[in-house]
Amino acid sequence: MEKVQRLSGNRWLFRCISCNWKDAVEKSDPPGFRCANCGDLLQIVLEGDAPKPRDLFADVSRTSIWRYSAALPVKNSVRQITLGEGNTPLLHAKRIERSMKNLLIKYEGQNPTGSFKDRGMSVAITRAVEQNAKVLVCASTGNTSASLAAYSSRAGLRSLVVVPEGKVASGKLVQAIAYGAKIVRMKGNFDSALKSVTRLVSENKGFYLMNSVNPFRIEGQKTVAFEIYEQLGREVPDYVVLPVGNAGNISAIWKGFRELKEWGISDKTPKMIGVQAEGASPIVNALANDSDTIVPVDKPETIASAIMIGNPVSWKKAIRAIRESGGFAVSVRDSDIVEARMHLATKEGIFVEMASAAPIAAVKMLKDRMQKDDLVVCIATGNGLKDQELVKFDPSSFPLVEDVNSILSRDL
Ligand code: F0G
Repeated sequence: MEKVQRLSGNRWLFRCISCNWKDAVEKSDPPGFRCANCGDLLQIVLEGDAPKPRDLFADVSRTSIWRYSAALPVKNSVRQITLGEGNTPLLHAKRIERSMKNLLIKYEGQNPTGSFKDRGMSVAITRAVEQNAKVLVCASTGNTSASLAAYSSRAGLRSLVVVPEGKVASGKLVQAIAYGAKIVRMKGNFDSALKSVTRLVSENKGFYLMNSVNPFRIEGQKTVAFEIYEQLGREVPDYVVLPVGNAGNISAIWKGFRELKEWGISDKTPKMIGVQAEGASPIVNALANDSDTIVPVDKPETIASAIMIGNPVSWKKAIRAIRESGGFAVSVRDSDIVEARMHLATKEGIFVEMASAAPIAAVKMLKDRMQKDDLVVCIATGNGLKDQELVKFDPSSFPLVEDVNSILSRDL
């Protein structure tokens, strides 16, 4: 078996997504993770002639994302901050849409804090420690803050999370509180919270940015592509379907699959399908209009609070991922999200939060555009326990019984 190439940090570069400005990852982070030349977002790439990590799957001694450390831009010598993220189940869904024979759910709700964010947080916090960061900060619709809070505790660092007033699922806030984060509510929506956090890190060097603008988050999140490939028996799915909010995850998963191909590991890439809620769908609108830019949605509105985002910061990367992959973007109605979430739980035993049910709602809509035996992987991004308030129930409505006989006498 070919030996895993252990890559040191100096082979990785920050590269601007617009003007191609580059700098070595080994140096310190560019301020706010923005291009020093044009201010656009940065991605992390392997230097052109650096040896590629061809056998990513040789390290069987670990189950977390750090199994793939040969493909992560972190030096071997640093202390990896981990809670055992990754290694989530890929489950065959047979009853939810019978016409699709190979519909699979990648259940990211089984990560340590219940969402895919943990993959990226593990890598970004490892980097933050290396950079001597003191206070880690993010704006969040909930899951990023839960994850940041947990991994900051793990690293022994402080965290500050800025959440939009109202609309944040209480389950997510409970997590941030439990892990000891400092929580600030910001007037307005997620987009204004992210703007404020971006200003905060640019004006005060004591704060370190942990939103998905931080390209180390993307590097961690790309590992889900490696896992899917491995779990499918070294096969690439035909479609990957996922909810899109700030658009970091679709860029990350696409990067993972693209790297597998570029590194000579796989021979194809999947089509990426980005799903947004009807009331928060700037990327869907841009693609529908064949536009190269988005028109932000001023007042995004949806029951899926995790993706209630009108001005996604990584829109350019998302549009590229969808176009390059030959995929598309669709919006779904809140009522279809609610139904899909219920079906996933009652027919498949997979309980997800609202945003995570959006891909299932989309597959039901799109089944005529797909072949019946296409391999379709939906990313179930977050655990259903997070937004419990959306399952309406009155505890006093359940029958109260005194003994077994009263159960037996009832028609249940
Ligand atoms: N699904 C869930 C459960 C999420 O929490 C998010 C984003 C997304 C999908 C969309 O991912 O932003 O990378 O396109 N949640 C962020 C947060 C915004 O603050 O927790 P994306």
